[in-house]
Amino acid sequence: MVQLSATPDHQVSRGEARPGGPTIRRVAAVGSGYMGGGIAQVLAIAGLDVALADITPDEAARARDRLVGQARQFESDGLIPAGAADTVAARLTAAGSLEEAVADADYVTEAVSESAPVKQKVLRRIGAAASPHAIIATNTSSIPIRSLADAVSAPERFLGVHWMNPAPFVPAVEVIPGEHTSFAVVGVVLALLRRAGKRPVTVGDAAGFVVNRLQFALFREAAAVVAEGLATPAEVDLLVSGSFGFRLPVLGPFAIADMAGLDVYAGAFQMLEQAYGERLSAPEALKELVSAGNFGAKSGKGFTGIDDRTAEAVATWRDRAYVALARALADAGPPPGGHPAETGAVGRGRIHQQTS
Ligand SMILES: NC(=O)c1ccc[n+]([C@@H]2O[C@H](COP(=O)([O-])OP(=O)(O)OC[C@H]3O[C@@H](n4cnc5c(N)ncnc54)[C@H](O)[C@@H]3O)[C@@H](O)[C@H]2O)c1
Repeated sequence: MVQLSATPDHQVSRGEARPGGPTIRRVAAVGSGYMGGGIAQVLAIAGLDVALADITPDEAARARDRLVGQARQFESDGLIPAGAADTVAARLTAAGSLEEAVADADYVTEAVSESAPVKQKVLRRIGAAASPHAIIATNTSSIPIRSLADAVSAPERFLGVHWMNPAPFVPAVEVIPGEHTSFAVVGVVLALLRRAGKRPVTVGDAAGFVVNRLQFALFREAAAVVAEGLATPAEVDLLVSGSFGFRLPVLGPFAIADMAGLDVYAGAFQMLEQAYGERLSAPEALKELVSAGNFGAKSGKGFTGIDDRTAEAVATWRDRAYVALARALADAGPPPGGHPAETGAVGRGRIHQQTS
């Protein structure tokens, strides 16, 4: 069962401790669509009162009904703890306007459409109506925080807090301080996210931050593979989710490289660079490690703390995690419509091409 809240509702009614400031008890979610709604559910279950705002009061009211109904479904499916849907019903309210939603909020999460002018306009309204102590977060997926910070009156209380989709169930949240965000504000937000059962990671401010820069680079290359006729989208998806995608919940790209051997990576990059040029050339950091004789787990050091002394223990843990993951996926069952490998959606295209 996925635990949405690390701390039961009754234990957090004291609110979030804020160093040198008041506590976070009330939240406003401005933009109550897919992401704003999911964030609102998680924060309500974590014990915060959440006011929803959208383009009209009717939209906000519809969103509240949808989110409560969805929470009931989650609960009956065993995805959130017993009683959590009642907590969502008790703590979520639909506001009559953006100004009404943010007036009493200690923390505002903006999740309107991904357009810089729209966000700037909404952030200006939030800044003007929110209390002077409120922390204002944007859920932008790609817009640098520094290009939005001018829209708020107090940039020291403004930052990016980028939740992943679906917000109730994906653990990591990127936290992106802007140029002027105060250290204390970042600390409060990290504590809030941890309390809500999330795994926050603070990253630098650049278009796409870390997650979408990586995700979109992968998507671009995947689309190129399809355009070149190497595999169909279903085949790419099957390969990714069953190969390096299967490994990623256990070890990230750097740990995987350290375990595989950095010399092996350097060798493969030579071929890739020959074929695809600069786009897939070996990164400098990899070349430097390898030329100094550091091959990761097998000898010397690598990108992570895994080295020749810890490699065996990491491998044992990794293998146990892979088997647990495979069991969990089998337990979840095939996707609706069947697994592409079993429905014949993959595998035929290449054979036909090669034999015709
Ligand atoms: N969908 C994803 O997978 C995903 C993942 C992470 C981050 N994000 C980001 O989250 C944000 C919201 O995305 P979404 O997928 O929830 O979109 P969405 O379309 O589901 O929701 C956006 C909501 O904002 C409302 N809105 C638009 N303009 C408004 C305004 N001026 N005032 C008040 N409400 C307004 C819309 O009516 C809608 O309900 C975007 O910045 C997006 O990039 C999306």
